Amino acid sequence: MEIGGSTVIPLADRFGRVATDLRVSLTDRCNLRCTYCMPEEGLAWLPRPELLTDDEVIRLIRVAVERLGVREVRFTGGEPLLRRGLTSIVQAAAALSPRPTLMLTTNGIGLERLAAPLRDAGLDRVNVSLDTLDPERFQALTRRDRHADVLRGLAAAATAGLTPVKINTVLMRDINDDEAPALLRFALDHGYQLRFIEQMPLDAQHRWDRHTMVTADEILASLAPYGLQPDVVSRGTSPAETWLVPGHLDAAGEPARVGVIGSVTRPFCGDCDRTRLTADGQVRNCLFATEESDLRKLLRDDAHDDELAEAWRVAMSGKRAGHGIDDPTFLQPARPMSAIGG
Ligand code: 5AD
Ligand code: SF4
Repeated sequence: MEIGGSTVIPLADRFGRVATDLRVSLTDRCNLRCTYCMPEEGLAWLPRPELLTDDEVIRLIRVAVERLGVREVRFTGGEPLLRRGLTSIVQAAAALSPRPTLMLTTNGIGLERLAAPLRDAGLDRVNVSLDTLDPERFQALTRRDRHADVLRGLAAAATAGLTPVKINTVLMRDINDDEAPALLRFALDHGYQLRFIEQMPLDAQHRWDRHTMVTADEILASLAPYGLQPDVVSRGTSPAETWLVPGHLDAAGEPARVGVIGSVTRPFCGDCDRTRLTADGQVRNCLFATEESDLRKLLRDDAHDDELAEAWRVAMSGKRAGHGIDDPTFLQPARPMSAIGG
């Protein structure tokens, strides 16, 4: 396949998977301190000179789209809305050919102001993290009093047309696991699509415990009053298994859906189509990878696009079959979720 004069050789691995979905972490900083993600005092942030500049990020996205066949780009963090150059990065990504689908995973703070400019720059959709409907609980969970900002951010995203607006929720035992039905009601009422994510061992504090994790089965059991029906659409490479909510339509007039991402108890590694780039220019072939490949060094040593593309392919070819959370030898990656991006 030829695109714009350069040949596309995709990001394939030994198990027949091809990565077409790029997740770009734009910063490891965050304005919340979710207890399952960061300690109260925050983390040692990446030093500025180690972060890719806006031009470097844009160059790597261009290489991924033009030479590696990447079709979707998702911006993550930390909190990506904290990245000053976000709008211009989105604009540059939207100008690529073929134009990738552009998405953002955010905690929603600042989205009220940025949703429309991001939409104008070419952003297609957003996922907003929200674990509770209760402002006090939100404060306990995130250590910040910003619940109202998130709700306003969600509303602004819908108004700006960043649809379908999705909500990501992590349930924690005895903390917010009683809220699944109410969160679904909230999402249905506002035309947002809710997805529950099983908690994964990616917290900076290494407190994750399989036995306290709220499982996909438990989440589905708590939604029993809704009489969920199996979805007609297959999940493809999407990590979310979706169910139809009888009697409800989404904002587009389609049957309403709810998703469950059973990363731990229902792993989907066999269908994974992701490749990840950290804010300091390292390729990760998996959320749980323990090794990374340094594209920043190549970039700053004046590597040609061909060399960057080839290094990226090599990084992905070594992708393991699965995350191995169930193996006795499983080791949590050194980099926490906030420095990888969801
Ligand atoms: N397990 C599952 N999801 C997590 N998130 C952050 N840490 C974890 C974890 N350990 C979620 C956030 C956000 C998305 C990027 O990932 O709540 O919705
Ligand atoms: Fe920030 Fe997301 Fe981590 Fe919460 S989970 S502290 S919003 S990076």
